[in-house]
Order: sequence, then C-alpha cells, then structure tokens
Amino acid sequence: MKQQGKVDALLGIVFGDEGKGKVVDVFTPRYDIVARFAGGPNAGHTIIFEGKKFVLRSIPSGIFDPGKLNIIGNGCVIAPDLFMAEAMELESAGYELRNRLHISKRAHLILPTHRVLDRAYEAAKGKNKVGTTGKGIGPTYSDKASRTGLRVGDILEDFPTKYAALKARHEQILRDLHYTDYDITEEEQRWLQGVEYMRQFQLTDTEIEINKALQEGKNVLAEGAQGTMLDIDHGTYPFVSSSSTTTGGVCTGLGVGPNKIGEVYGIFKAYSTRVGSGPFPVELFDETGDRIREIGHEYGAVTGRNRRCGWVDLVALRYAIMINGVTQLIMMKSDVLDGFETIRACVAYERDGQVMHDMPFETEGCKAVYRDLPGWKEDLSSMTSEEQFPQAFRDYIHFLEEELQTPITILSVGPDRAQTIVR
Ligand code: GDP
Ligand code: IMO
Ligand code: MG
Repeated sequence: MKQQGKVDALLGIVFGDEGKGKVVDVFTPRYDIVARFAGGPNAGHTIIFEGKKFVLRSIPSGIFDPGKLNIIGNGCVIAPDLFMAEAMELESAGYELRNRLHISKRAHLILPTHRVLDRAYEAAKGKNKVGTTGKGIGPTYSDKASRTGLRVGDILEDFPTKYAALKARHEQILRDLHYTDYDITEEEQRWLQGVEYMRQFQLTDTEIEINKALQEGKNVLAEGAQGTMLDIDHGTYPFVSSSSTTTGGVCTGLGVGPNKIGEVYGIFKAYSTRVGSGPFPVELFDETGDRIREIGHEYGAVTGRNRRCGWVDLVALRYAIMINGVTQLIMMKSDVLDGFETIRACVAYERDGQVMHDMPFETEGCKAVYRDLPGWKEDLSSMTSEEQFPQAFRDYIHFLEEELQTPITILSVGPDRAQTIVR
C-alpha cells in the first residue's frame, strides 16, 4: 500500500498576527496543497517577497507558488464581495487562480446583513465590546450553529430565494434590536456580483479531495487563522473569535481524521500583541510598549488598529502548546527586540497574592510575573545563519525552549521571505 500523506498544521498560538502568512509562503514548496480551515476575512496574512507585499484574508498563503492547489475548507466563512476583491487583485498581479483555488461547498457565506448584525451586537455590548473586525464573523458562525446559515453550495441552486429568506430573518432581528440606521444597497450589489464571480471558481467537496490526495501520498499544509487565545473554546472567552483555531479545528475544518495530522507548528512572536478588547496580562502601557509597536509596525493588517504590545507570555504559550499538541515552535520578529537593554518574559500570572503557572479560567485582573534576561545590540535582520546570532539571543532561545519544553526550529528575523532561519 502506498504511504499516505499527512496534514501538517501551522497555527498561530497566541492572539493572532504572529506571522502565519509569511511562514506558510516559505513552507509551501514542501507541500502539494495549502488549505485554510477556519476564520474568514477577519484574518490578514502578510506576505513580502521581491519587494512586493500582499495581505491575504480568505485566500490561502500558498497561492504564490504556481504549482500548488489552495483550498478554502468547510470550517471557513467567506464574504463573496471581499473574496472577489482579493482574488481580482491577485489576478491583476498576474497570478492564475481559477484552476488552483478550490472552495468548499460547505463553507458558510457571510451576508451583508451579518456585518450589520456584527455592528449591532457590538453596539449593544456597550463597555464590553469584543472589538471585532466588523466582518460579520460572529453572526455567520452563529447562524451555522443555529442551522440557519447559507453555504457556498447554496449558490448553485435556487439562491435568490434562500438569500432573501435569510436576509429577511436578519432584518427582523435588527428591527428587534432597534438597529435600523443602516443602508446596504451598494454593498449588497457588490456582494451579489461577488456571488456571480465565485461561480467561476471550483466549488467542490474539499474534504473528499483532501482525503483522496492524502491517500495518493500528497502532503497538506493547514494554514491557521487567528490564534489559540482567540479560539472559541480555549481563548479568553468572550473576547475571542467564533471559530476553532486549534489543531482540533484542522480536523473539523478540513474533514480529516486526527491520525492524518503530522507536525503541529506553533507560531509566536518574540513578544506579544493583541488587537481588540479583552484581558492581556503582559500588556505594556509605557514607552517600551510604544517602542515595540513602532519598531514592529504593530498596526492591524485588516483594520489598521493599534495592536496592544507586551512581553512574551509563557503561561499562554504553555497552554497553547498543550491544547494543540505543538511539536515544533516558530519564533517570529526577534529582530524587533534588537537594542533592548533587558528582555522580559512572563513566567506566571499573579492575582490576589496567588501565583499561577497554568492558564486560569479568567485572566482578567491577572498580573504578569516576569523573568528578566539581557538583551542584545546586534542587528538580527541581516543574519542568515544561527552561527551569527549574539550570545544573548541564543540564551533567550534556550530559555524559551527550556520553559516550553518544545524545540524552536525556525526563527524569523525580518518580514521578507528570505529572512527566515531554519535550525
Ligand atoms: P498573520 O496574520 O499571522 O499572517 O500575521 P500578520 O501578517 O497580520 O502580521 C505579521 C506582520 O509582521 C506582518 O506585517 C509581517 O510582514 C511582519 N513580519 C513577519 N515576520 C517578521 C519578522 O520576523 N520580523 C519583522 N520585523 N516583521 C515580520
Ligand atoms: P489573523 O489570522 C488578530 C480578533 C479581533 C477581535 C476578536 C473577534 O490575521 O491572525 P472577529 O472579527 O473575529 O469576531 O473578532 O478577534 N481577531 C484577530 N486578531 N489577528 C486575527 O487574524 C484576528 N481575527 C480576529 O480583533 O478582538
Ligand atoms: Mg494578521
């Protein structure tokens, strides 16, 4: 019997924006298929090469390698208008998509009224806003769970009737919420054009395709979106997104069995960021936080919002490594820490005199307990091999590996594809 292929997972293991897009792009040559399994246009994955920059939202980051198949899996949600804009931009940059991008018929559709509902629910939350990306993610996954959603496959048959029924249902909810000051006329036109545009793509049973490919010995890279701390089950609920962003989500979001999962790559930054509301024990409100934000260009790829910045959080990382079964770590943006006299790492949380090493049910009110390490003065971004690393950076890597009991096998020292060091 032919040896079966594997699905390797590449997952953000903190609050998203770890640099998943960059690493997927670097890894793609090793795989036959790259597949997104969760989230939708709330994601913003940046890829930089040969002086060009792309930010992908729904389309997998394997799209720049012409020989590879890219899949938007059943666990994803997709907004036809935003998908059209994203795909057309890639097409006009010379990338052929129609034969290389398959979309699951089981992925759910984000309607214009889902986006209005997203705004309405946020408005109703008052002080406790999640700080969503406003892309309609929560309401779309709610409809999925309520068994009222529309799926990509629905556009192939009797779509206008189905669309009108769900839209009417949303309008009723909005009236009930007294949220009536919205106008989706133009947006809806673009959205319906997007639906027509999507019909030109291969809308398939991607779970069957992926499993057949695995049987043929092909390998799949599952591209995570968001991060473990934004996961609907394991994140800092209710300040989370609405999908399963973990290894478990790879299985449900692509339709593959757990025995098909190979490596689980956990990506994190050499420091922490979070965009949107919710507890963030390592957050820095001082000049150091501002300095990390400036140097790291920590502004949202989707919304342009300031990302909140802080030191690396080992409580969150240990938890995420456990939840996902991470086998290898990838540390991003180490270059951003160049020139800091001292680098801190949060080794535990403290609340009301109690020190916690394990992730508590509620992280609100937790303070970070730090370990200080010496920084380095050298410019990491120009380094091309581990031998060039300054001792203080080696010590930081060694410290993290010991604390996390997981090897860091890849280090990223700059945004370009080329600034990636495999150990
Ligand atoms: P994703 O959502 O996980 O794909 O990450 P984003 O694209 O939202 O955010 C990561 C940002 O960091 C992007 O602007 C990348 O270009 C940039 N980036 C990625 N890796 C590195 C790195 O090693 N060093 C620096 N300085 N920037 C990086
Ligand atoms: P990538 O894939 C960072 C955050 C939002 C908000 C919360 C819920 O680029 O890492 P949603 O719109 O999903 O209902 O928002 O989740 N969030 C992200 N933060 N990176 C992301 O994606 C995110 N996707 C959602 O800011 O706090
Ligand atoms: Mg991002």
